[in-house]
Amino acid sequence: MANQHGHFLNVIDVGSAKTCALVAEITENGLRYRGHGVAESRGTRKGVIVDLEKAVSSIQKAVESAEDRAGAPVEHALVGVAGSHVRGINTHGGITFGNRPREIAHEEIRMAVDKARAISLPADREILHLLPQEFILDEQSGVHDPLGMMATRLEVRVHMVTSASSATQNVVTAVNRAGVHVDDTVFEPLACADAVLRSDERDLGVCLADIGAGSTELVIFCQGAVAYTGVIPIGGDHFTSDLSVGLCTPVNEAEKLKKLYGNAIVTLIPEGNEVEVPSVGDRPSRLLTQRLLGEILEPRARELCEMLRESMRQSGMFEACLAGLVLSGGGSRLPGLLDIAESVLRKPVRIAWPVPLAKMPVELAEPEFAAALGMIYYGHRARVARGIQDDRWSSRLKAMFVRKGA
Ligand SMILES: Nc1ncnc2c1ncn2[C@@H]1O[C@H](COP(=O)(O)OP(=O)(O)OP(=O)(O)O)[C@@H](O)[C@H]1O
Ligand SMILES: [Mg+2]
Repeated sequence: MANQHGHFLNVIDVGSAKTCALVAEITENGLRYRGHGVAESRGTRKGVIVDLEKAVSSIQKAVESAEDRAGAPVEHALVGVAGSHVRGINTHGGITFGNRPREIAHEEIRMAVDKARAISLPADREILHLLPQEFILDEQSGVHDPLGMMATRLEVRVHMVTSASSATQNVVTAVNRAGVHVDDTVFEPLACADAVLRSDERDLGVCLADIGAGSTELVIFCQGAVAYTGVIPIGGDHFTSDLSVGLCTPVNEAEKLKKLYGNAIVTLIPEGNEVEVPSVGDRPSRLLTQRLLGEILEPRARELCEMLRESMRQSGMFEACLAGLVLSGGGSRLPGLLDIAESVLRKPVRIAWPVPLAKMPVELAEPEFAAALGMIYYGHRARVARGIQDDRWSSRLKAMFVRKGA
């Protein structure tokens, strides 16, 4: 009864810092929180699994506590994929029907998308998503849903997200070994967008950056469609390791200091404030100025924001992002980061507080849970779109045509 194919939706986010399992129920009144579990991620680095057994055990812990809270088994799940092995490219293709206009049905759309996806990929890469940006019917561009329309030629522009097969397979294997069947995979920032972006932002042009522990994943929307996806190999852990090296303190202590006293803008830290910094080995701890933390964190924050700006420029979408930048992920919680991003990008920046599920505990309404929550919304949207059809490829394709409401 209680599984992915019934009234329950289960998702698993295997992050570099935390592994999160979340269970929601589909009710007549919409989605409702049923349970969640969070475990420290072990065996995962920079978004990819490096030690299968440790990763399996983290997933098991998260899943078991989600099952306990939900009072239902987690047998199936939608699983997130992230990390610097993921790439996005824009491609296009089309088909001509002959001289007479033909009514466009799902089959015609599938054939056009097939042409667009027919580019040679290295053997070790697989397609995660095919996201239509616009359809062109004869000379008419800018069509979002061509179903039922007439044309002699149908072209489609598609954003294709690919991942390293081995990295994706390792996440699937780890989840399987934890006793959960993987229904589907999703590039995390795409799902995250469902929890944090408003449709007017997607239409106007917006960049969502999910600053995790190991990396920062981004997705740019323009005119309601995905225009660009990318990954920057810097996440919150780089800030921690800078502090660890700069203050000569263990990584776990650096992490605590960052969360308690960190600020990405030195001048926002009152002069004269001192913090106790543990030392390595058996040396005594020291009292150092809190500003020293800011001096170490600020250059890294600037580097991350400059890399974000460069990615947006390379995508050709920098100017088009009129709604600016939205930051999610635990890394976005560093005080001052938002201000640095605004000054580097010269665009509006906001922190993403995810749309809560009904009955959800408040501790989940935080930027680091935006990806897991988004996966619930994404999974629900995909399920509504495909109805009861279970064909994997066509169900994905259908899911893409359902545009998120306001
Ligand atoms: N208050 C805070 N201030 C600064 N950084 C924070 C704060 N809270 C969490 N972080 C950082 O956020 C990161 C974890 O974020 P998150 O939980 O989104 O990562 P993840 O999803 O496990 O990793 P990834 O998405 O890279 O696989 C860690 O680097 C952590 O130090
Ligand atoms: Mg994450």
